[in-house]
Amino acid sequence: MLVRNTLPGIFAALLLTSAVPAQQPQARIRIDTNRVIGEVSPRLFGNFAEHLGRCIYGGIFEEGSPLSDSDGFRKDVLEAVKPLGVSVLRWPGGNFASGYNWKDGVGPRDQRPARPDLAWGALETNRFGTDEFLRYCERIGAEPYLCINAGLGSVDDARQWVEYANETRPTYWANQRRKNGREQPWNVKIWGLGNEIDGPWQLGHKNAEDYAKFALEAAKAMRRQDASIELIASGSSNFGADADWIGWNRAVLDRLKDQIDYISLHTYIGNRENNFENFLGSNALDIEDRIQVVEGQIKAAQNGQAKPRPIYIAFDEWNTWYRTIHPGDSEFDIGKSGLEEHYNFEDALAAGMFLNAFMRHADVVKMANLAQLVNVIAPIFTNKQALYLQTIYWPLVEYGKQRGNLSLDLQTTSPTYRIGSRPPLGYLDVSGTYSPADRAIYLNVLNRSEKSDIVTRVDAIAGQIGSPAAVWELNNPDLKAVNDFGAEKVRPATRAVALNLENDGFTYTFPKHSLTILKLKAQ
Ligand code: AHR
Repeated sequence: MLVRNTLPGIFAALLLTSAVPAQQPQARIRIDTNRVIGEVSPRLFGNFAEHLGRCIYGGIFEEGSPLSDSDGFRKDVLEAVKPLGVSVLRWPGGNFASGYNWKDGVGPRDQRPARPDLAWGALETNRFGTDEFLRYCERIGAEPYLCINAGLGSVDDARQWVEYANETRPTYWANQRRKNGREQPWNVKIWGLGNEIDGPWQLGHKNAEDYAKFALEAAKAMRRQDASIELIASGSSNFGADADWIGWNRAVLDRLKDQIDYISLHTYIGNRENNFENFLGSNALDIEDRIQVVEGQIKAAQNGQAKPRPIYIAFDEWNTWYRTIHPGDSEFDIGKSGLEEHYNFEDALAAGMFLNAFMRHADVVKMANLAQLVNVIAPIFTNKQALYLQTIYWPLVEYGKQRGNLSLDLQTTSPTYRIGSRPPLGYLDVSGTYSPADRAIYLNVLNRSEKSDIVTRVDAIAGQIGSPAAVWELNNPDLKAVNDFGAEKVRPATRAVALNLENDGFTYTFPKHSLTILKLKAQ
């Protein structure tokens, strides 16, 4: 039985618990491995490390610590980063990028200048710079993504950074790199044309027209330096009531469509109203809308072009962030906010919601970077002696195993609820992928009903499913449960489940407030 759209969420939830017979399916998922949306880009499992609070200093990098290696990298953090399989690491910001002079961060460490960090009110020692970052990427097996200073910086600073990183000939900046110990070019492919330049909080904030002019000239100069690089335009990040985020993207795409490979989107969410179902529902609707709008804008910009340059979305900052304050908030105390969110169980479910949306749009969302890697709104949290894994760590690890799979266009129906006057949405938020190589189907199912388990019929439309299924489940009786040093309460459970197969399908109950990944055998 399906609870239809017209009831407010609370009544729909009541119907779910009371009126539905125990094993009667309430929801349906149809899997057809021929209905492919696109490849799940490995770049969806990117991350971001900014000079902010204790992300770099005291997180990734802690010189003199007994926990660090000879490069100053925290070895325990390196170990914790590995299972995340970070495919792309973005650096140095973030807001920090818009005041950063990369030349301060190269050369002998003891001779580097200390500077005021005008984005976050800190003192920047510059002991961690370009070569340290690129070495870190090599150590964790991530592609580096450098974000230029499109705020206070210049076009030629950006061009020279490409020269420092990638030039093979004996030019001035390539020779500086050699002098600093790196003979071979670093060969950095991914470059961001600035960070959140649409936000009034940004150093060197510009209007869309001024940004597009700057970015176009930077792209031209950087590409003349190295034609093989990929460029990401700074798209919308400012969704405030007065912000014309659609107009910003339109202007950027119109001017830059022949130069860029990606347009960025940033989204942070929070359960400010302390309403679990609304938190996981309204933000899901927003993310869907934003992806669909930007996809349409890319198409509109390319309309009429004989051979348009492919442009994808890079969701290069995403996460839950609302307990620690934001720049622009009246109580924001620049220099005091380390953005150290302690994530709870429901925040981990939100990570599944984001990843489901990216996978459902795998044809257009080709990069995503969780903000950030360590301590600062991050899955890994350190002190001087140890670290612990935050709740949001676990979905990242598990979804990451689906990189390179084919995202499937599943047909899903589930009981619905409404948030205010917004369109109805299903309690089940689902994505699915298929790996032809090992004939495995993954169903990623978030049950965002706070009160009700949902009995679901799963059918294979093309081919058959085998038994048993491998189940990964993240659940906790306490939505607000947090992890801490020596007390990681929120961890996934795994088990094998024998499926009662009939007519190419089976029934499975997705528990209330849970995130489940079913790994099925396709036969
Ligand atoms: O990730 C924290 C901050 O959020 C970044 O510096 C900025 O780009 C965004 O506003």
